Amino acid sequence: MSNAAHEPTIQEMFNLSGKVALVTGACGWLVQSFCRALAEAGASVVCAEIPAMKEKAHEVAKSLPVVGNAKHYVTELDYMDPKSIDNCMADAVKQAGKVDILVNSGYERVTSDWRTVSGEQFTRQLQNATGVFLLSRAMRQHVVDRKGKGSIINIGSMYGIVGSYPDAYSDVPMCSPVAYHCLKGGVISMSRHMAVYWVGDGVRVNILSPGPFPAPNVSPKMVERLSSKSPMKRMGKPHELKGALVFLASDASSYVTGANIVVDGGWMAW
Ligand SMILES: NC(=O)c1ccc[n+]([C@@H]2O[C@H](COP(=O)([O-])OP(=O)(O)OC[C@H]3O[C@@H](n4cnc5c(N)ncnc54)[C@H](O)[C@@H]3O)[C@@H](O)[C@H]2O)c1
Repeated sequence: MSNAAHEPTIQEMFNLSGKVALVTGACGWLVQSFCRALAEAGASVVCAEIPAMKEKAHEVAKSLPVVGNAKHYVTELDYMDPKSIDNCMADAVKQAGKVDILVNSGYERVTSDWRTVSGEQFTRQLQNATGVFLLSRAMRQHVVDRKGKGSIINIGSMYGIVGSYPDAYSDVPMCSPVAYHCLKGGVISMSRHMAVYWVGDGVRVNILSPGPFPAPNVSPKMVERLSSKSPMKRMGKPHELKGALVFLASDASSYVTGANIVVDGGWMAW
């Protein structure tokens, strides 16, 4: 006998209509695609950015597609400032009424490698993880208070799992900072902890770890070297993360928590 009558369809499972997603670092190279993916799936998106990027965040919010009754908003968030983190969740709820999905994708960069990074710079880079934790905890509390359900997606990286090839970064104006590797490894590990501690609260916590998706302004020499290391011999395009993001945000992943979905063109499969 078929059990199809009791089974949600694929369209229903991936549909984000009526949901609100709070996305940090909304103006980012990949993050703008994250915002579009959620909006295209029907969600209202709250675009969170540091104060210096607020104007651009308004442009991003305006550019997002609107499905049905969805509406997009802008709020401020700086992971370096605990007050801003509390305000961000409260303001998102005030504007949009609730938050169902949190994507922790913004981060403050560090540009110094292992040779030159100071202790202060290293600690500051790790403060991004503190910010991800504090915002995630505020999200959990919001879900508990509403007696609702929540999906937290923390953006990791292949560089939170594997080391980088030193030769890919020699003689180019960009490095693979050791403090960034430490940050992303920490975010991945912390997400698994939150996943198991909060599973009874209706909150799922997962990680989306992109492989190499360089922005257009990075050194072509470096892109060429990284491409040669990839099984697919090319870099990822931002839209190639959209499917995994909407999967983790939606009911399509209702039995998934503590997972790290790696979208890397096979980088880690060698
Ligand atoms: N681009 C890649 O190749 C790649 C690869 C692996 C992982 N990732 C991860 O994907 C996510 C998005 O990457 P991206 O390429 O769009 O990054 P991006 O650098 O383009 O965007 C990051 C955003 O974070 C914001 N930001 C800066 N300081 C902040 C702070 N203190 N608090 C909150 N937000 C702050 C910036 O304003 C910016 O819009 C990041 O978490 C990144 O680590 C990217």
